[in-house]
Amino acid sequence: MNHFEPIDGELSCESVPLREIAQSVGTPVYVYSSATLERHYGVLRDALRQEGLKGEHGGDALIAFAVKANSNLAVLKTLARLGAGADTVSEGEIRRALAAGIPANRIVFSGVGKTAEELAFALKVGVSEINVESEPEMHLASNIAQSLGTRAVIAIRVNPDVSAGGHAKIATGKADNKFGVSFSEAERLYAQASNNAGLKPVGVTCHIGSQITDLAPMSAAFSKMKGLVQRLRGEGHSVERLDLGGGLGVPYFHQPTPPSPADYARMIARTMTGLDIAYSFEPGRMIAANAGVLVAEVLHIHERPEGRKFAVLDAAMNDLIRPAMYDAYHDIKPVRVRPGSPEMYDVVGPICETGDTFTRERELPPLAPGDLIAFMSAGAYGAVMSSEYNSRLLVPEVLVQGDQYAVVRPRPTYEDMLARDRLPDWL
Ligand code: LLP
Repeated sequence: MNHFEPIDGELSCESVPLREIAQSVGTPVYVYSSATLERHYGVLRDALRQEGLKGEHGGDALIAFAVKANSNLAVLKTLARLGAGADTVSEGEIRRALAAGIPANRIVFSGVGKTAEELAFALKVGVSEINVESEPEMHLASNIAQSLGTRAVIAIRVNPDVSAGGHAKIATGKADNKFGVSFSEAERLYAQASNNAGLKPVGVTCHIGSQITDLAPMSAAFSKMKGLVQRLRGEGHSVERLDLGGGLGVPYFHQPTPPSPADYARMIARTMTGLDIAYSFEPGRMIAANAGVLVAEVLHIHERPEGRKFAVLDAAMNDLIRPAMYDAYHDIKPVRVRPGSPEMYDVVGPICETGDTFTRERELPPLAPGDLIAFMSAGAYGAVMSSEYNSRLLVPEVLVQGDQYAVVRPRPTYEDMLARDRLPDWL
């Protein structure tokens, strides 16, 4: 459930009409709902509690929000206030998490290509765990930790070799993906790490893909992870933590309905029966996707002689790249539905390439220039993947809470944009 519903015939975010935001901030603009973020976090936390999936010291399991899905400080702070941790993949994300008030001991540092500087930064601020993805990276972490006179708390990221994820570009759990190590390597690395003065191995982790709408591959991967924990313990290692990644899908319409957080938690509890361990999770999409929309204005309705009708928007692929990059489906809702029968539209942006197409032949209520439309489910992997391609200003972000809203990232000015470039002396 989300909090984007019509009020008096106008699509609103909580109690604020999207038209009001569009009028004061301009379009395109991302709009996020605090109540939806809070609800999604709460539903997952409660489902994990219900199934007795605990974290360290018998407390709640760590829900480390995947900052890559939505890194706006206001969004992170909304979640931080509920007790969320952060799953980060760069120094920039660690800094964002800290700036939003997420304590370092709830920050996990993942990613296949951590640099020496980033590892040093993570160790200095004291992140809770570094998820090591390869042998060379493990040695780098050890060397840096030793040079800082400390030990890196690590978990080994395993690639469970299962197929999952909505699109080839977002599946991460197959052996031919760049992520993680095999089970046998994980055992070898764990043993090595246990005898290394710069490392303190505390657990194992996996993440098999994103927008997963079927629990079977997750359950297959998780039961292999359980086997690994048992083997490691059998070899005398202490394995305190199990990080099961993110990946649970969300309803994008016209896609299989994903399992609920309750189904997900039940599957994990069943798969892990008898295993006493501290759990952590790295959800991104399931918390943020349906908590945000991208609002755009229809500039023109352009009819081609072949009978195609193009709705040209002021939003483009640089603002929301998911349709161009992953053929992703985003539901499109007019902010105020015009009376009349639905028509077929190709909904496109103004960028000079055919890939700047949000959808083709979509049946929508009649549209006219000046109408506002909302791309639904755009709160995850939306603004974070935006760019200034075609020298279009970076899209702004707004956070709503009840009947109030605030611009949480303003649209830059053209002066800001030009001022970032430098001319060399010889010009
Ligand atoms: N943990 C790790 C290590 C990850 O790589 C990811 C996502 C997550 C957690 C969060 O996964 P989620 O719960 O959001 O599915 N840009 C793509 C999605 C890329 C996901 C990459 N990794 C999209 O727009 O669909």
